[in-house]
Amino acid sequence: MTAQEIRQAYLDYFKNKGHTVIPRALLVPQEDPTTLFTGSGMQPLIPYLLGQEHPNGVRLVDSQTCLRAQDIEEVGDNRHTTFFEMLGNWSLGDYFKQEQIPWVYEFLTQTVGLDPKRIYVSCYSGNPNLGLPKDEESANIWTELLSKQGLDTKQVDLGSVEQGAKLGEQDGRIFFYEDKNWWSRSGGPESMPEGEPGGPDTELFYLYPNVKHNPKYGEHCHVNCDCGRYIELGNCVFMEYQKTKSGFTKLPKQNVDYGGGLERISAAAIDSPDVYSISVMQPIIETLERLSSKTYDSNTTPMRVITDHLRAAVFLAVDGVVPSNKEQGYVMRRLIRRAVRFAFDLGIEQNFIEEVSRTVTDLYVKDFPDMAERRDGVIATLAKEEKLFRQTLRKGLHQMDKLSKAGKLSGEDMFMLYDTFGFPLELSAEEAATRGIALDKDWKKAFDEQMAQQRERSHTASKGTFKGGLAGHEDIHKKYHTATHLLYKALRLNLGDEVVQHGSNITDERLRFDFSYSNKLTPEQLSAIEAEVNEQIKRDLVVTWSEYPTKVAINEMGALGAFGDRYGDKVKVYSMTPKDTDKPYSLEVCGGPHVEHTGLLGEDKKQFKIVKEESSSAGIRRIKAVLK
Ligand code: ALA
Repeated sequence: MTAQEIRQAYLDYFKNKGHTVIPRALLVPQEDPTTLFTGSGMQPLIPYLLGQEHPNGVRLVDSQTCLRAQDIEEVGDNRHTTFFEMLGNWSLGDYFKQEQIPWVYEFLTQTVGLDPKRIYVSCYSGNPNLGLPKDEESANIWTELLSKQGLDTKQVDLGSVEQGAKLGEQDGRIFFYEDKNWWSRSGGPESMPEGEPGGPDTELFYLYPNVKHNPKYGEHCHVNCDCGRYIELGNCVFMEYQKTKSGFTKLPKQNVDYGGGLERISAAAIDSPDVYSISVMQPIIETLERLSSKTYDSNTTPMRVITDHLRAAVFLAVDGVVPSNKEQGYVMRRLIRRAVRFAFDLGIEQNFIEEVSRTVTDLYVKDFPDMAERRDGVIATLAKEEKLFRQTLRKGLHQMDKLSKAGKLSGEDMFMLYDTFGFPLELSAEEAATRGIALDKDWKKAFDEQMAQQRERSHTASKGTFKGGLAGHEDIHKKYHTATHLLYKALRLNLGDEVVQHGSNITDERLRFDFSYSNKLTPEQLSAIEAEVNEQIKRDLVVTWSEYPTKVAINEMGALGAFGDRYGDKVKVYSMTPKDTDKPYSLEVCGGPHVEHTGLLGEDKKQFKIVKEESSSAGIRRIKAVLK
């Protein structure tokens, strides 16, 4: 089966088990300020895992595009990518372990046709100090299932990766680990912030017996070893706990959160440990082979990096991100620049991104209508950034000449060329040699030090964005969220129907709202909009929600939505209505949550204030506003 076929087969399999297929969420989370990107399928579903009702029911399935920017420097091996699709199915308090485990096993072995003998699993070993029990239940379900296949089912307790490397496989089939088999967005139970949901999980691994264990990763191989002999295919998380001040409490419902990597499953389906050999990757590699007249076999790393980075950048562009120096735009810029730099390694020095992104889009337009719709703009965005970067590179060469006036280039100089001008180290060294510029004796050491510091900085930054956590911030987020609806309505009233939401983001300090409008707003318009919002806060509108068929909500009721958002068959509509009428002031398709009445926004004499109005990209304005 091709990757495209596996995606469809998975959706169909779970549809047959009573699941509703939901559309993927954008790569840029719309209502969650705690993280830059959608990094797992469960992320857009957090409110529902915490107990809110989902308009599409209690059984959901999708393929979620994910981006893990923290892995950017790791890309180059046979299985790690920044961009990937996560096949996901969810039970929101409906079925649990007894159904989930056999279903995913059946899908992988029967539908995809993977060899049952090569599937190994892991379960949670428990943590008595935290009152979290060993997951015997999952292990028993596995034992029954696997012995029916005539497979050995020996259980082995490994505990940690370190212990695993010491003790090895021991002919086991079911392995127990502690933190490795607990899943939350922030890792093991101890590192979870308050409010965060999590739970024990059971993971499935595929053995590639021809891959030799590399002792660099530990004395013995085991399922969680990083040598690449075992590749994780999927993870069933039994999301039943929430971290609280005093430890762990059970969520109102026992949920299932399954995530499986489409690319890795597709690679297993063609019995290849290399995800770059699958049907949505191989054509990109072939384009690179053609452009460089080099082979993948002898240029594996640069071709993998370019393939990964341009897939990621294409999907970011589809989801409305443009290269910039901030947040999501910065990551996109880095991905494109790294792709250009690695192309130097292949000897590709001319513009090449337009052609490669066309190949990328060819692979997805059939299954992603939004990509089909925006294809030309997407390719143009990437090509423009490449051109810009090549100009920067030229400036960098000038800079190199200037620096060399001091006699030699130091490690700090090399780092500056790398960091500011995007010069690959090899390129700087080569250029210096061609120009007869000497390098400082210890330049490499100084460069590595600068590099390590930089890594530390970006690591801390990405952790920081995330660890913001949910708890404690919830109240102010709700207020800003409600204020965002009032602002949207006020903009439409003052500027007309040209205004359509193009993104929004909330932090503890402010709201940010992007919308289409062709002109800069005048001071008069801004104060009229502010006054309108403050008026509605004073009127203390009542905030409620109901579910409607999507068509009714949008076409008949005129509920506002956001550009690029895709909705399932049913949607939740939030209305804000004056107490003395039943005609809503604002109707908006939205998942919530919101405050119960708008007067709460004016508590402590607070006022809605626009602090900034600027251009965000062509035809898109951006407003930042506070409650102060
Ligand atoms: N949420 C789980 C994961 O990302 C399924 O691995």
